[in-house]
Amino acid sequence: MITESSSKTYWPLFPRKVMFDWQTTPLHWIPQSPLASHAINHFSFSLVRGEYFFCRMFNKALPLIEDEKLKEHVKVFIRQEVIHAQAHKDSIEQYLQRYGVDIEKQYETVIHLFDHALADKPFGMKLPKFLQKQWLVARVGFVAATEHYTCALGKFVLEKAHWEAKGCNPEVSDLFTWHCAEEVEHRAVAYDLFQYLNKGNYAMRCLVMLPVVPILTMLMIKGTAGLATTDPVLSKSQKSLTRLGFWKEWASASQQNLIPSLSWFITTSGSFFKPDYHPIYEASTQMALDYINNSPAVKAFEQQLVFSNDPKN
Ligand SMILES: [Fe+2]
Ligand SMILES: [Fe+2]
Repeated sequence: MITESSSKTYWPLFPRKVMFDWQTTPLHWIPQSPLASHAINHFSFSLVRGEYFFCRMFNKALPLIEDEKLKEHVKVFIRQEVIHAQAHKDSIEQYLQRYGVDIEKQYETVIHLFDHALADKPFGMKLPKFLQKQWLVARVGFVAATEHYTCALGKFVLEKAHWEAKGCNPEVSDLFTWHCAEEVEHRAVAYDLFQYLNKGNYAMRCLVMLPVVPILTMLMIKGTAGLATTDPVLSKSQKSLTRLGFWKEWASASQQNLIPSLSWFITTSGSFFKPDYHPIYEASTQMALDYINNSPAVKAFEQQLVFSNDPKN
């Protein structure tokens, strides 16, 4: 008897390595809006710590998976997320650090969240044995809810942002567009794993999204302000969450589709609550692959591989 796999991803998934050159990248890589540049750049800090956290959770979940197709997709997901996290870590160390960004400070909040609050022992507190598996399943659920957002961001970037066509720096545009495209490509894996472990419990699905909406919104806004504070070019009113200038500039950048609007963070969660929700209906795999297959960073790595394997070199 053939049983249907819990993984609904029907297209092949691949991990792809990438190569970037950060030597000449400007801090204000979105020339229309320094604040929007900080808003997107700050994602890198959340992504580094967040995606390593995703990988830790999925590695812990692997022994619980008996569905071979799902297990294979989870393994590719982990490899893709490791490459994403490493690419953003490199961009922070080789690019943002050059502009005097205090890396330790920018990481503080996300380390607190992913390494302390969401640890096996939350804030050092050992959980009783009967709760340990449920805590893992809940954290896989948080990953699934967050991946709903990374897919939605991918859709926004692929369909609306078009940074490079708007004159933004090609290197950072490619880092985030390649990454977002792979988020669209593997958009169903975390959800399918969560549903598998959670036995499709609808109430639990709603519960995991509830804290994710305010936490993601807060990380995004607070992180943007954190980077903006150290920028000598920005006016004082654009650096502070308590001043109108910050919110006006955010609205202006989002009207140009350079960054998502603030309301996007709230409304994006909506479809996740629908009883018949599934991520495969949330975005176009073909649109993602069309970008990935032409990504300069993906091509640069492939070319370097061909060059280093050529016996004449
Ligand atoms: Fe990722
Ligand atoms: Fe992802």
